[in-house]
Amino acid sequence: MSDKLIAPSILAADFANLQRDVEMVNTSQADWFHIDIMDGVFVPNISFGMPVLKAISKHAKKFIDVHLMIVDPDRYIKEFADLGSNMLTVHYEACSHLHRSLQSIKNHGMQAGVALNPHTNVELLRDCINDIDMVCLMSVNPGFGGQHFIERTYKKIKQLKALILEEGADTKIEIDGGVTDKNAEELIACGADVLVAGSYVFKSDDPEETILNLKNSINK
Ligand code: DX5
Ligand code: ZN
Repeated sequence: MSDKLIAPSILAADFANLQRDVEMVNTSQADWFHIDIMDGVFVPNISFGMPVLKAISKHAKKFIDVHLMIVDPDRYIKEFADLGSNMLTVHYEACSHLHRSLQSIKNHGMQAGVALNPHTNVELLRDCINDIDMVCLMSVNPGFGGQHFIERTYKKIKQLKALILEEGADTKIEIDGGVTDKNAEELIACGADVLVAGSYVFKSDDPEETILNLKNSINK
């Protein structure tokens, strides 16, 4: 039994039936809730904010993985902790003092994640990899669900995995964007630990079964 994780992205849920979709994740074989917060500045889209996360947290019975696509995320670390976030991921490209941000996230009782845009080299994380609980490799340009997976991601996972091992770190690798049954197994084979899946899960005929099949396919 392996321990590779599935994190459905609520961005692709039906917001008019949010409680239903949260309960679906609760009863499914999914491991985490992936929550995408966008500010319309760091990325060209606005998703949802604190009141919606509060509503999700009220019903969610699993680990809450919050992905901040916002500038200057330090401003909101305490608020996300108070809203029940378990993992708080900030973008490398949005932090002038990444090490300080990571310490602050941990001081607020959360695990600390760092996301990298597709153009950002994994080597840039070497000097703080031992302080990072999870690296989220973006396999699409952040801002929207339903985009095509960028093939270069396979190579980046291998580079990141090597870096983690070289530095003796205990850092998970998460892949976010364009994940489907077509690439899931190869992503895991390259070294990924957590797969985020939005459209592939929520736009399918039977989301719960899609999660089950995806989970089984990466835990053989
Ligand atoms: C994109 C978000 C993703 C998104 C993934 O900026 O970070 O989490 O919801 O959606 P899919 O799986 O549809 O690519
Ligand atoms: Zn995300």
